[in-house]
Amino acid sequence: MKTECIHIDPLHPERVLIDHAAALLRAGEVVVLPTETVYGLGADALRTAAVERIFLAKGRPFNDPLIVHIADETMLRVLTTVVPPRVRPLAEAFWPGPLTLIMPRGASVPRLVTAGLDTIAIRMPRHPVALALIRALGSPVAAPSANRFKHVSPTTAQHAYADLNGCVPLILDAGPCEVGVESTVLDLCSDIPTILRPGGISLEALQAVLPDVRYSPRHELDQEDGQRETQAQRSPGQLLTHYAPTIPLILYEGSVEAMLPAMLAEARRRQNASERVGVLVADENVAAFAASGALIRSLGSADAPEQIASSLFAALRELELAGVQVILCRSFDQSGLGLAVHDRLLRAASERVVV
Ligand code: TXA
Ligand code: MG
Repeated sequence: MKTECIHIDPLHPERVLIDHAAALLRAGEVVVLPTETVYGLGADALRTAAVERIFLAKGRPFNDPLIVHIADETMLRVLTTVVPPRVRPLAEAFWPGPLTLIMPRGASVPRLVTAGLDTIAIRMPRHPVALALIRALGSPVAAPSANRFKHVSPTTAQHAYADLNGCVPLILDAGPCEVGVESTVLDLCSDIPTILRPGGISLEALQAVLPDVRYSPRHELDQEDGQRETQAQRSPGQLLTHYAPTIPLILYEGSVEAMLPAMLAEARRRQNASERVGVLVADENVAAFAASGALIRSLGSADAPEQIASSLFAALRELELAGVQVILCRSFDQSGLGLAVHDRLLRAASERVVV
């Protein structure tokens, strides 16, 4: 299959291009579309055959449920049996935007979308192209991140092209994504609203609307005996290695004063052993690594978690392409979007964390 990659105006998407993409979706095809978080691989959420193509194009296992994207709240009616009371204030505060809500699944939603679960993940994205496309189709759009299964999520059309060239007919290129990490997934079907995946809406922002919201970091759950399975079944996409780049990443934690010298020493040791080393740091740290011989990529200022979030996935892909054999990465403050950044770094590092 030939993959067409077309530029589209991110703020005022050209009608003719939206109609072209909507026609493909209507024909049961998949289309790569921009959202404010990451690029998505979309299909008509109400057609099983179309949704199946998402899984095939990504190489994604069928037990990993999808997020369904809507353009207005009337689309909730077909997707869910009851709209939980907490949806209203959350939607008012955060939709359109990077918040995914787990609700009871409506009977007409193909089982493939939810991987057989009785619940469904729904969000209203705020990217004008995504909204225009959902409206033009007139139906909700199921869309996971537009990467090959287990690879880093794409924050540019070029990332999606690198992973899905030949597997999708169309990529809409609206430039780099604003947020850069995926949406926050919030479960509204348990007694206490629980964050299943930290993301583009911060814990602090959610707490302001929903004071009883709960978040247990995945690595803490892992230490509680027997919890690993339970959490994995609740949100099957939350595999610990879900965001792994194709090369090993070692995550350094602790104070800046301890982290940076440890990273420097490891970079030197590995380069003496003729390894090509990449380091992920903040602007403030670049000078300290200048003479290290490692390939340095800064994620932005350590004080600006939005910057770090928006450059993280692109940086991981750049270092991969540059052919480094290992990535040494510092950790960042976990407030605001820093929580999502830390979650993705832990996953990319798998078990390789230096404290
Ligand atoms: O920002 C985003 O959320 C992006 C853009 C494209 O919207 N999408 C995205 O989709 O990240 P994906 O498929 O890569 O991640 C979906 C997450 C997975 O962690 C999955 O387990 C969880 O949502 N999820 C989906 N349905 C669920 C359900 N019924 N219950 C619990 N978790 C669910
Ligand atoms: Mg994904």
